[in-house]
Amino acid sequence: MTHRSRSGDTFEPIETASREEIAALQLERMKWSLEHAYAHVPHYRAKFDAAGVHPDELQTLADLARFPFTTKEDLRQNYPFGMFAVPHDQIVRVHASSGTTGKPTVVGYTQHDLAIWSTVMARSIFAAGGRPGHKIHVGFGYGLFTGGLGAHYGVERLGAMVIPMSGGNTERQVQLINDFTPDVIMCTPSYALNIADEFVRQGLDPAATALTVGLFGAEPWTDAMRNEIEARFGIDAIDLYGLSEIIGPGVACECADAKDGPTVWEDHFYPEIIDAETGAVLPDGAWGELVFTSLTKEALPVVRYRTRDLSCLLPGTARSMRRMSRITGRTDDMLIIRGVNVFPSQIEEQVLKVKNLAPHYQLEVAREHNLDHLTVKVELVEGEAGTPAAREAAHELGHHIKSLVGVSAEILVMARGQVPRSEGKAVRVIDRRKLKPA
Ligand code: DLL
Repeated sequence: MTHRSRSGDTFEPIETASREEIAALQLERMKWSLEHAYAHVPHYRAKFDAAGVHPDELQTLADLARFPFTTKEDLRQNYPFGMFAVPHDQIVRVHASSGTTGKPTVVGYTQHDLAIWSTVMARSIFAAGGRPGHKIHVGFGYGLFTGGLGAHYGVERLGAMVIPMSGGNTERQVQLINDFTPDVIMCTPSYALNIADEFVRQGLDPAATALTVGLFGAEPWTDAMRNEIEARFGIDAIDLYGLSEIIGPGVACECADAKDGPTVWEDHFYPEIIDAETGAVLPDGAWGELVFTSLTKEALPVVRYRTRDLSCLLPGTARSMRRMSRITGRTDDMLIIRGVNVFPSQIEEQVLKVKNLAPHYQLEVAREHNLDHLTVKVELVEGEAGTPAAREAAHELGHHIKSLVGVSAEILVMARGQVPRSEGKAVRVIDRRKLKPA
């Protein structure tokens, strides 16, 4: 799909600065950020001291590799506010992300941090094709989750009109999209499909709205899923990436003209790819775990934060800043089923290949008689469970999964609407092996 934005058009000039200029800015800011973390966060001081490194030793960007990593566990151990680098009276907002276990991770922002967050979000929306004067429907959840408010202030910073719908209340989402005629929608990709289904349920065509662009993120999604969303809504579907620990949404975003993986806003967030096993820094182009160092954040500086997201760094195209390849999975969402490594995204690709199956799915893994058992729950676009058509779809999907992913799976084909829907991040995996001891 072509887009109306002029190429070379950016929200801020830095997006197309020379590589030398970007690197010089990164080095200057990285020095500040490491010093700030060391001086004001006892946890960083202790970790740097234990590793025998000091911020003064950072002379080049490559020297960053000598500094220790930060993990979600570090934030948990310092719950709730122990990693903050400024006094509480300078913190004007907190957010929190709930993990699969234990306490949430708490993040904080100063006024300056919020201004930067709004700006990188505005850059992202602009790169996707949003413009001042547009109406933008925000369907990310508002609250402790960073999605809703992060997108919200980005829209305002851009100078567009924000429709703060939040997630959920899907019937109402459809009504407001019809009545307010937004140009842009922002939500999780799984929720976008849920909204498309609701249009159909109400006898409406999702492709007939005023929407031209969607920014989707907060969970992994494949190109097959992108094609599905684009076809159903008749829009450009753009990948928006981010995580609370680094700032929230707006760490990286795809450019509409290229649609070739999110551009990392490298003047604020310094990316590295590491070997997840050894921790060694890998060259651009190699796949591994994505690591970020914040360059300008005051309230919660993060040094070499291990995202667990799997990606690779690529040269810039629509911008001079580097791109990251779209996330295919996380080091911790990889399932090992009878010794075979399986990512939910691999199953998603296969589900979307089968004509009569809807793009909603859930994987359930259990251990039966000491053997792993994978069940893939899917649903029909049309028709009832138990019919010959359902059996045929199950057979076809089982065959694709066996031959292309390499595991045997039981396929449970259900009627329309039977796979649990998400209003935010989709729950793709239920691993019963983790719920009770093997
Ligand atoms: O999900 C922030 C966000 C909100 C991003 C809205 C984009 C849009 P957390 O809740 O901290 O923050 O979850 C961060 O979500 O490490 C990835 O595993 C995943 N994730 C986020 N964006 C994408 C994406 C928000 N575009 C975690 N593709 C990250 C794949 C994504 N995974």
